[in-house]
Amino acid sequence: VNCTQCHGSGAQGSAGFPNLNDDDWLWGGTAEQIQQTITHGIRFATDAETRLSEMPAFGDIITADQIAKVSAYVASLSGKVHDASLIQPGAKVFADNCVACHGDNAKGNKELGGPDLTDAIWLYGSGETAIADQVRAPKQGVMPAWGARLGETKVKELAVYIHSLGGGE
Ligand code: HEC
Ligand code: HEC
Repeated sequence: VNCTQCHGSGAQGSAGFPNLNDDDWLWGGTAEQIQQTITHGIRFATDAETRLSEMPAFGDIITADQIAKVSAYVASLSGKVHDASLIQPGAKVFADNCVACHGDNAKGNKELGGPDLTDAIWLYGSGETAIADQVRAPKQGVMPAWGARLGETKVKELAVYIHSLGGGE
């Protein structure tokens, strides 16, 4: 009733809305972490304790050339087609701008909701073009807070249910 409009009738997700059946988590997949996410939402402006992190719009921060390099580097991490000559310089751009939220090894950072960029699971698309679009102008997806609307007991039940769908982190 409350979740399928964004996460799909089987919780399988779609572009921009994470699949809740797998064990790949943006903000953490323990029952407690899931409960926290459902209670306070993500980037939900009216909840003071909402999960918050905002990937900067790098289109205003680094050059188009640097965006091309770092996008090729990120694509290479999951074996996507890329121009090999851009990998080394792209890794440098990544080290200078991206590790705080995505980790030294690009495997993500759940404290800040930074996705793992080395796996086959993508929120917004895996190709170099989709990656460059996100780097230029990040989507910053919003998830509503449910604590006040549904109450603690219902949110707990939901958290246990969602936890049971995943791989059991
Ligand atoms: C209006 C759309 C919307 C609705 C409705 C919605 N969600 Fe979400 N949800 C999102 C978005 C967008 C994200 C990812 C945000 C991000 O980029 O971090 C998300 C993320 C999550 C996460 C975190 C996943 C992770 O990998 O850490 C959980 C858990 C979750 N939603 C559960 C629910 C539940 C349970 C409901 C119903 C009570 C619900 N959502 C309703 C949009 C929605
Ligand atoms: C302040 C934290 C932060 C920094 C710094 C940051 N990111 Fe992100 N990144 C995020 C968050 C949070 C998301 C997912 C949320 C969204 O935009 O909706 C994300 C999403 C992405 C995605 C989409 C992943 C997917 O599954 O579709 C890519 C690609 C990406 N970042 C690349 C980069 C690159 C390259 C840099 C450095 C130039 C960078 N990010 C710097 C926080 C950050």
